[in-house]
Amino acid sequence: MKIGIPKEIKPEEFRVSITPGNLLEFIHAGHEIYIEKDAGVGSGFSNHQYEENGAKIIDSHKKVFDSADMILKIKEPLDEEIDLFKDEQILFTYLHLAANEHLTLGLLEKNVIGIAYETVQLDNGRLPLLDPMSEVAGRMAPVLGTYLLSRHKGGIGKLICHLPGLEPGNVVIIGGGTAGKGAALMAAGLGAQVILLEIDDGRIRELTDILPPNVSVIKSSKHTIKKYVKNADILIGAVLLTGARAPILVDKELVASMREGAVIVDIAIDQGGCIYGSTPTYHSDPTFKKLGKIYYCVANMPGTFPRSSSIALTNSTIEYAQEIANNGVESALKNDRVLRRGLNVYKGKITCKGVADAFNMEYVPPEKVL
Ligand SMILES: NC(=O)c1ccc[n+]([C@@H]2O[C@H](COP(=O)([O-])OP(=O)(O)OC[C@H]3O[C@@H](n4cnc5c(N)ncnc54)[C@H](O)[C@@H]3O)[C@@H](O)[C@H]2O)c1
Repeated sequence: MKIGIPKEIKPEEFRVSITPGNLLEFIHAGHEIYIEKDAGVGSGFSNHQYEENGAKIIDSHKKVFDSADMILKIKEPLDEEIDLFKDEQILFTYLHLAANEHLTLGLLEKNVIGIAYETVQLDNGRLPLLDPMSEVAGRMAPVLGTYLLSRHKGGIGKLICHLPGLEPGNVVIIGGGTAGKGAALMAAGLGAQVILLEIDDGRIRELTDILPPNVSVIKSSKHTIKKYVKNADILIGAVLLTGARAPILVDKELVASMREGAVIVDIAIDQGGCIYGSTPTYHSDPTFKKLGKIYYCVANMPGTFPRSSSIALTNSTIEYAQEIANNGVESALKNDRVLRRGLNVYKGKITCKGVADAFNMEYVPPEKVL
C-alpha cells in the first residue's frame, strides 16, 4: 500500500504520524511511504533519517495526498486539506467529527474512508489511541493552570502548592478517565487539594485506590459539580462520551460564581468542550478571559511537546496502521472489531453513532457497509 504522511498544517502543531523507527516495519512488508519534506523536523526527526529507512521525501503537501492510498495524520484535516482527498481514500488520524460538521460533510462528499484514532475502542471500553495523548494533556493541565494563576497572567496570584502555614489551592477536575487521572496525579504532586468528579462507580473505586490522599474522588452529579466548582482555583474539564460532542456540565451561572481570576483548562475542547464559554484556541494565543475567568482551550495540547507526543502516539497507532496496510482496509475492518469501532465515515455514510446524532444525520452501522 502507498502511505502518505503530510506535514501537519494546524497552527503550532509539530507532531508527526510516523517516526523513522516505526517506518521500517512498513518497508519490510513491501509498502511505500511518501513523507512530506520536513514533516518530522518539529519532533526532532530529520528528512535524512526517514530517507535512510526507506521513505520517499515529497516536496509538496498536495503531492503527498496525490501519491497515497492511505493518509496517516495526527490532527483532523483543515478546510484547505479537504479538497486534496481522492475519492475513497483512506484517512487514519484524530478526527473529532462530532464537533465539526463542516469537516464531516467534506469527508462524506469525498467518499473518504475515515478511521478516527479517538474511537478505536477495546472490548473493555478503553480507547488505546486516545490514551497516550490524554496522558500528556492531563499532566500538562495543572502545570499550565498553575502558571496562569500568576498575577501577571491575570490570575488570582495564588500558588497552589501547600506552603507552610497556608491552605493549598483547590483544583477541581471533571472526568476521571485517562486525562483526568493524569491531571489529578500532577495536581496532587504539586501539593494542591484535588477534587476529582467522576460518574462511573467502578472507575471511582479504582481511582480511590490508586490516587494519593490529597485527591478526593467524588461521584459527579449536578449537585457535586455545583458544590466544588465554585471554590476551584483551577477547573479542569476532562469528560468524554466516546465519539459524541462533550456535554456542557458547568453552565454560565456556575462559571460566573467562581472567583475572579480563577483558571479554566477545558481539555475536552476537541470534542466541543464541557464548560460554558470554552472556544478553541491555539498555542500562539492560548488563553482568553470571560466572566472574569482565564480560559485555556487548546485543542492540540500535546502538540507543544511533539518529541514525547509523537513517540508516545505512534507507539500505539502504528500497529493498527500496519493492520490496514497489510490486510487492506476492508478486511482489516471486517476482522478487527476494535479497529472497526474507529470507522466514522465510509464512502459517503456516517458509521459512528455519536457523529450522526450530533448532526441529526443517518447512522449506518459499519457492519452494514463493509
Ligand atoms: N485538548 C487536547 O489537546 C486533548 C488531548 C487529549 C485528549 N483530549 C480530550 O480529553 C477528553 C478526555 O479524554 P480521556 O482520554 O481522558 O477520556 P476517557 O474516556 O478516558 O475519560 C472520560 C471520563 O469522563 C467520565 N465522564 C463522563 N461523563 C461524566 C460526567 N457527567 N461527570 C464526570 N465524569 C464523566 C467517564 O466516565 C470517563 O471516566 C476527551 O474529549 C479527549 O478527546 C484533549
